[in-house]
Amino acid sequence: MKHLIDPTDLSVEEIDGILNLALDIIDNKSKYSEACKGKKLATLFFEPSTRTRLSFEAAMMELGGNVLGFSSADSSSATKGESVGDTIRVVGCYADIIAMRHPKEGAPMLGSMVSPVPIINAGDGGHNHPTQTLTDLLTIKREKGDLNNFTIGLCGDLKFGRTVHSLIKALSRYEGIKFILISPKELKVPEYIITEVFEKNNIDYREVTTMEEVMSELDIIYMTRVQKERFFNEADYVRLKDTYILDKSKLKNAKESLTIMHPLPRVNEISTELDDDPRAAYFRQALNGKYVRMALILTLLGVNVNEG
Ligand code: NCD
Repeated sequence: MKHLIDPTDLSVEEIDGILNLALDIIDNKSKYSEACKGKKLATLFFEPSTRTRLSFEAAMMELGGNVLGFSSADSSSATKGESVGDTIRVVGCYADIIAMRHPKEGAPMLGSMVSPVPIINAGDGGHNHPTQTLTDLLTIKREKGDLNNFTIGLCGDLKFGRTVHSLIKALSRYEGIKFILISPKELKVPEYIITEVFEKNNIDYREVTTMEEVMSELDIIYMTRVQKERFFNEADYVRLKDTYILDKSKLKNAKESLTIMHPLPRVNEISTELDDDPRAAYFRQALNGKYVRMALILTLLGVNVNEG
């Protein structure tokens, strides 16, 4: 049985398989409409979510399966003091697969150690968010046609942003990618990403503090929200929250072929004036999240509709 806790739990070949399956689902939706008939997905969200939870639920419904779960810790027995391990053992009696989000780093990993069914990490604190990464990879593949040879600017809260940490880890295994890390000095990527990912693998990366100085080089700009809920004090959040706002004027020197991504939710990081720009891929990205989660559920459950 396989879980998905960290994006590198999947090999590059397995990721290719999931992305290709997602592309087949997009082209042949009806072929998959009963693929998970009789199966149940539990979504255990101890932390707020819109896209991740609802796209998981929509994904399972479009596969003909059912969903159950909770959308806040307040409505679970966590409030009575139940441990994550016990919750997972119990929910594993009711569901065939579990997607779980938790504010504590490592909680889904702990859950996976006792789970009788596959566990998917739907975000653990400031650590990882592997299904957002699959979403991002499918988006890059669809927008750019290739997962190799491009320059990506990651902009905003690179310290607490789990989507950024997971995306860097996953992309570090492809060829010819240059990373430009755009953040205020207070919100730089954690040191382990620099040493364990960039330096260890000899990857081309650079840290800068403004988007203007690098805009003309970028093939992709990945904007992120300043992660208010992970700050220790409100004053720091207020001071940093609007450091980067992407708008028409900032795109003056950008490539015509630029792809603008954002895992969403957006606060102020991208002006709504860009929403109709063909380069704005963030709502297409959210849609890709549903298809890639369908592909992931099928893969972890070992369902193959193309087999006799
Ligand atoms: C992200 C998350 O939860 O980390 N949202 C998402 O799942 N699309 C990004 C964020 O909350 O800023």
